[in-house]
Amino acid sequence: MKRLMHTCLPTFVFDARAEAERELADEIVALVRTKPETVLGLATGDTPVGVYRDLHRAHVARAVSFARASTFNLDEYLDLARDDPRRFRRWMEAHLFQHIDLPPENAHLPESTSSADDPVTVAERYEAAIRAAGGLDLQVLGIGRNGHLGFNEPGSSRASRTRVVDLHPLTRADAAGVFGGLEHVPKRAITMGVGTIFEAARLRVLAFGARKAEIVRRTLHDPMTSAFVSTFLREHGDVKLFVDREAAAQILDEHRAR
Ligand code: F6R
Repeated sequence: MKRLMHTCLPTFVFDARAEAERELADEIVALVRTKPETVLGLATGDTPVGVYRDLHRAHVARAVSFARASTFNLDEYLDLARDDPRRFRRWMEAHLFQHIDLPPENAHLPESTSSADDPVTVAERYEAAIRAAGGLDLQVLGIGRNGHLGFNEPGSSRASRTRVVDLHPLTRADAAGVFGGLEHVPKRAITMGVGTIFEAARLRVLAFGARKAEIVRRTLHDPMTSAFVSTFLREHGDVKLFVDREAAAQILDEHRAR
């Protein structure tokens, strides 16, 4: 692992994504061991899969218990049936929750559970629940190819709170495979806001693979702009960006050219 010098936010390049995943999983295990009531912010998608695999392993090895921890996911689709397998809640169960001893009532997502749930109220309650839990100790983040954090799509303000959002065309296109066609991808979601995310004590951001190389370069080198929400990350006081060589390719090229 190599720390890049002179970047606007602490950036660490790993030879392989597995090393980055281990680094973050180890940090989370250490955090939960010192503070069993840790409040974790979690993400779904391809990016954090290996971190959850490593947390599962650590739990099996009895290195950590999540019995007193709680989790808050960044986002959830709207307009999917409660038992739809593509809900992020189901994804979290398959990749993490069913493998660790986190009490089910401590695993939160910003979700409507019945058609009677008003999404605006769900979003407000989510903010209140995060506050009541004591705030997020560490938030795990991936970056969308359009720079989104959670589902804070281009144009989202730095001050935004948990709310209902319309999904960006690129976000929906990236999800089309999972949904068996673009026409089946939900158009709306509830997401933590940028302001909500940035209240986490630590932000740990992961980006892997060549498809993230452009947004990683923009995140570090573009001027701060809501057109690429990830450019706001440099404003946080305890943020780290972990990338593999493929995702770092464009910034490494630029660093070499200097
Ligand atoms: C997921 C989320 C998104 C993803 C981002 C990257 O809960 O909020 O912001 O982190 O779209 O997705 P992957 O990891 O699939 O490339």
